Amino acid sequence: MTTSTAPRTMTGDEIVALSKRHTIFEWSAQNAVDPIPVAGAKGSYFWTPDGKRYLDFNSQLMCVNIGHGDPRVIAAIQEQAAVLPYANPFMATEVRARLGARLAAITPGDIDCFFFTNAGAEANENAIKIARWYTGRHKILARYRSYHGATAGAIALTGDPRRWAAEPGASGVIHVPDPYHGIARGWDSADDALARLEEVIQLEGPTTIAGFILEPVTGTNGILIPPDGYLQGVRALCDKYGILMIADEVMSGFGRTGAWFAVDHWGVVPDLITMAKGLTSAYVPLGAVGLRRPVADHFRDKVFAGGLTYNSHPLACAAALATIAVYEEDNLIARARQMGEVMAALLADLQARHPSVGAVRSIGLFGIVELIRDRATREPMAPFNATSPEMAALGRFFRQEGLYTFVRWNYFFTNPPLTITEAELREGFAIIDRGLTHADAAVR
Ligand SMILES: Cc1ncc(COP(=O)(O)O)c(C=O)c1O
Repeated sequence: MTTSTAPRTMTGDEIVALSKRHTIFEWSAQNAVDPIPVAGAKGSYFWTPDGKRYLDFNSQLMCVNIGHGDPRVIAAIQEQAAVLPYANPFMATEVRARLGARLAAITPGDIDCFFFTNAGAEANENAIKIARWYTGRHKILARYRSYHGATAGAIALTGDPRRWAAEPGASGVIHVPDPYHGIARGWDSADDALARLEEVIQLEGPTTIAGFILEPVTGTNGILIPPDGYLQGVRALCDKYGILMIADEVMSGFGRTGAWFAVDHWGVVPDLITMAKGLTSAYVPLGAVGLRRPVADHFRDKVFAGGLTYNSHPLACAAALATIAVYEEDNLIARARQMGEVMAALLADLQARHPSVGAVRSIGLFGIVELIRDRATREPMAPFNATSPEMAALGRFFRQEGLYTFVRWNYFFTNPPLTITEAELREGFAIIDRGLTHADAAVR
């Protein structure tokens, strides 16, 4: 029998079977999915109903930045639920007011006005609408190695292969190459990358381009930390041509890189900034787009032609306020920097000892290991947009050993909660170390 009030006594196998029968799992053929049943989570760990424990080396979907089960955020959600779980978005609530003001204090420069959404994709949808209204132009530049969400506009912005199944998509999106060209070809200099970008702007027509959306540090497409000068150069080109710079900080925001926002490392203030994930640490869904003052002022006498039933949802605003308080009370931004140094040393150690490790990159607690199968050609351990027996085996090994992280193409991530202890980090890297021994055997 299937009821909406199933008792909380199902086994892991029962949860998986019933979930697979009646619900759709994302980005997958349903026969291929093998989900982990999750019963609870605390700190850096989560566990199944049958008691198997996993060290969460990906903060679930790079979002549970403050760690699992923080009682302060749970209490704030419970208190808000008891007082006022919902008010429609034409109303003003205390949590909405306070969250706008808190975000104005922590976001870069003169960004001080926010439109709240349910998630990251909707934040990007609204950012491109704002850029189009503000500039009166239509085209949006985005990069190939990017992910911006799965809704119609956001998937059109997305540069990676997740876009392909959604095509033909929204019009007017122009993709440009990144400074990074994969493990075999490596990096452009900032100057070269900026010259290519300016060439595309010229060829497309500068006066037709409303915005350039980019992940300041790219997430799922490879923890791509731009060469110094690149983001400053993008800012300068946007200024030169009247294009709005849109920083998608859905994944890189809220301490992940060891700063409140990734752009802070380079002192760049985008015109629009989008966020979600770490904003509430995913305890309740919430996204937002932040506007610099001149852009926000555009809507003083022009209509903001957008809306959502759950815009400024009080439960989500309460969760965000409590989450931001946790970052501050526990010094999690500085902690991400400090533990990030420990993690960088552990990554470098892997690279020094394992021939299968072609590159490691990290900034704060945002990290990646890219594997190669040939030391001379730097052929990746799996091709672009594909897996390989070795990468699949590594994923199975991590799961069997109780390490949860994302394995994608020829790489895997090290993105633990910002609260992770050094002992927990070392525990995770010890499992990775053993897993790479098998991958090393495939290297020529
Ligand atoms: C950089 C970036 N932008 C946007 C999104 C989409 O966010 P959401 O899944 O909350 O819609 C993601 C999700 O992973 C992301 O990493």
